[in-house]
Amino acid sequence: MSGTVTINSPADFHVHLRQGSISELITPHVRKGGFDLAYVMPNLKPPITTTEQALKYKVELEKIDPSVEYLMTLYLSPELTPDEIRKAKKAGIVGVKSYPRGVTTNSDGGIESYETYYPIFEIMQEIDMVLNLHGEVPSDANANIHVLNAESQFLPHLLKIHAAFPKLRIVLEHATTSAAIDAVKSCGPTVACTITAHHLALVVDDWAGQSWNFCKPVAKYPSDRQALQNVVKEGHPRFFLGSDSAPHPPHVKSTSTPTHACAAGIYTSPILLPLVAHLLDSFGALDKLEGFVSGFGRAFYQRPITNAHKFIQLRKVTEGTLIDEIYALGNETLVPFWAGKTLDYEIIL
Ligand code: NCD
Ligand code: DOR
Ligand code: ZN
Ligand code: ZN
Repeated sequence: MSGTVTINSPADFHVHLRQGSISELITPHVRKGGFDLAYVMPNLKPPITTTEQALKYKVELEKIDPSVEYLMTLYLSPELTPDEIRKAKKAGIVGVKSYPRGVTTNSDGGIESYETYYPIFEIMQEIDMVLNLHGEVPSDANANIHVLNAESQFLPHLLKIHAAFPKLRIVLEHATTSAAIDAVKSCGPTVACTITAHHLALVVDDWAGQSWNFCKPVAKYPSDRQALQNVVKEGHPRFFLGSDSAPHPPHVKSTSTPTHACAAGIYTSPILLPLVAHLLDSFGALDKLEGFVSGFGRAFYQRPITNAHKFIQLRKVTEGTLIDEIYALGNETLVPFWAGKTLDYEIIL
């Protein structure tokens, strides 16, 4: 049928599903947004640092929505031991996520170092676990490091880790710059990159003074957004969707005070597949949708489509389909990205 798009088993390779009552609200939105698989981030409070915690968390998610496949991750920290990594691999945990604050800082000059983790990376490489990198260095006014160059300043770390562990599968998460695209392209087949829906849409001006569009890494220059769109349009197989959908309650999103900044994170899960279709269509890349939201990430993560997987269909709606202003469950409310705007696509139920 013309005006419809069929996608085989979409997979979101980076999503925050939180815990407690927010998790009850958002976990079903993975499926609502059109996705069969969720690669789940470990930054809970406290973070998921052990196999036991990760498996317990997986059971909680499956209780909320058993129809989605959850791939679990651990939070990289100095407490993580080689034994724990081996145990995690045996238990089916797929990756380890590194956050900048978890990285050790050398006393001289505040240079961060990943070398303390090399014994861990060595074992991850040996047993084939994925390293997920939050590719930003911490801001440091003395070193002129800030939100706009935090990612480009991180890229030498990526190249160095890849050179030291060429067989280690690494994902540079939520790339936002032209420099990051070039760096990942320059690496071998073991290095991939996720791109969010919102970074295909936003530039600096969109979050300056607009807290709902504020996330980390921040959206960069129009030329950077162009580079992200170009690599999607090119259909490069090492670049695929990781939504980084990361909801925060309205009172921490919309309110900042002289002493408290607003929370970083954009909530896209419930509208994800229609949003990505809308965006790709807007820059002439709709024919790359299936690779970007399913095939490329599945190939990298060795999660091929099986007979159990389902096709999902989208239809183009000329009049547009309205994005909900709010999602609620009990006392929890959340506002999605582009609330009140319209999308050109909707899921055929
Ligand atoms: C946080 C981090 O750096 O650890 N990420 C972020 O704000 N960009 C996530 C967290 O608080 O665990
Ligand atoms: O904007 C963000 N929000 N970036 C992150 O890396 C973390 C996330 C969150 O957990 O809220
Ligand atoms: Zn991150
Ligand atoms: Zn994230």
